[in-house]
Amino acid sequence: MPSVYFQTFGCQMNSADSDTIHELLSRRGFVLTDSCGGSDLIVVNTCSVREAAEKRAKGKIAEFARGKKSRPGQKLWVVGCMAERLGDSLKEQIPGVDLVVGAKQMERIDEVIEEQFPQSQYDTGASPMIFGKTAVTDFVPVMRGCDNYCAYCVVPYVRGREQSVPYDIIESTVKEKIAAGIKEITFLGQNVNSYNHGGIDFPALLSKMSNIDGLERIRFTTSHPKDCTEKLIDVMASSKKFASHIHLPVQAGADRILSLMNRKYTSSHYRNLLDMIRTRIPHADITSDILVGFPTETDAEFRETLSLVRAARFTTAFMFAYSPREGTAAASMKEEISKEEKNARLTELIALQTEITREIYENSVGRELEVLITGRQEKRDKAWMGQDAGCKKVLISCEPAEPGMILNVKATRSSGMTLIV
Ligand code: 5AD
Ligand code: SF4
Repeated sequence: MPSVYFQTFGCQMNSADSDTIHELLSRRGFVLTDSCGGSDLIVVNTCSVREAAEKRAKGKIAEFARGKKSRPGQKLWVVGCMAERLGDSLKEQIPGVDLVVGAKQMERIDEVIEEQFPQSQYDTGASPMIFGKTAVTDFVPVMRGCDNYCAYCVVPYVRGREQSVPYDIIESTVKEKIAAGIKEITFLGQNVNSYNHGGIDFPALLSKMSNIDGLERIRFTTSHPKDCTEKLIDVMASSKKFASHIHLPVQAGADRILSLMNRKYTSSHYRNLLDMIRTRIPHADITSDILVGFPTETDAEFRETLSLVRAARFTTAFMFAYSPREGTAAASMKEEISKEEKNARLTELIALQTEITREIYENSVGRELEVLITGRQEKRDKAWMGQDAGCKKVLISCEPAEPGMILNVKATRSSGMTLIV
């Protein structure tokens, strides 16, 4: 049987896209391998959001291209956002790349794969497989693309305009996954709040999903603060099926920077949103993305980001130094912040957030948690791994359990970013 090796960079949408490619290939008899050397096909799924992500992907692609020389017949595909941004020029930059499939082509990925490997020639009658993060949790994209054009972000250029997946397709995908044993679905979109298809908006979609039997836990990401409405929070609070977690990227704390970033909300609007969420959903985990060193950001403005972070008490946050991306509005703004300054700000921010994360985990010790068991942690005395109703990782050593079970437990201690039962 032919084999495929995946190297996936970037966000959960990329993981979902790799899963889709994997599934289409498995229908043609491909099996997954964890050895790039022994595989017939290597697929590198790339991210363009920061220069460092592109550098890392290019390094890996070059390494695979070198290895390919001693493996006759091996194919190397580059897919995803960097593939979209750089197109076939990647084949010239890195000889050895056989196929470049940009993120916008994910809509017609079945045709692309059919052109490469016609199913009639490759179909081995292999049964459909379960993909995703674990055997009991999975992703379902509900919308793709982004129309927001945040000034720093390349995503609208590489992923294209917003497009929502028709409701019927989402419902049947979810039901198929449940039938295959999935208990928790994370609905994905660059901006899920913009979901709208045939008059069904995102809160309505979530409500419908919560009525599906067998779907025990529902998550979604990413929410844009400007579209995160009371209606959405009310739906989240309406059923225990909804995880008490929302990822709500704030990006910055100063209104002038938020405006330059084209985020369309103010810092006080964001703080009010957090109050509304915490009033309706006690113990909600709120997580965020934060960017430092946007062009012209002053030290005082950076301190506003720090105060917002102090007040917001995010459970965790992804924190980044601004990286100019060609073609975006911010790339043509004068970049006044030096690399050293950006890194110093990032270090200070990470230190603050790490302390807050540690406190939040510690405050969860002794509180009743509902933990969905997702698998075994082989390295650690075969403990069970799981996630609480928020976004916290939990390790359970003693209870008899199996993946898919939801256990009510209390953590006895916390070790950094893990609760231990
Ligand atoms: N530089 C640094 N971080 C960026 N992000 C998006 N574009 C850039 C950029 N040019 C971050 C934002 C976004 C997350 C996915 O990546 O915080 O929310
Ligand atoms: Fe990028 Fe902004 Fe769209 Fe998020 S909402 S993908 S940060 S443009």
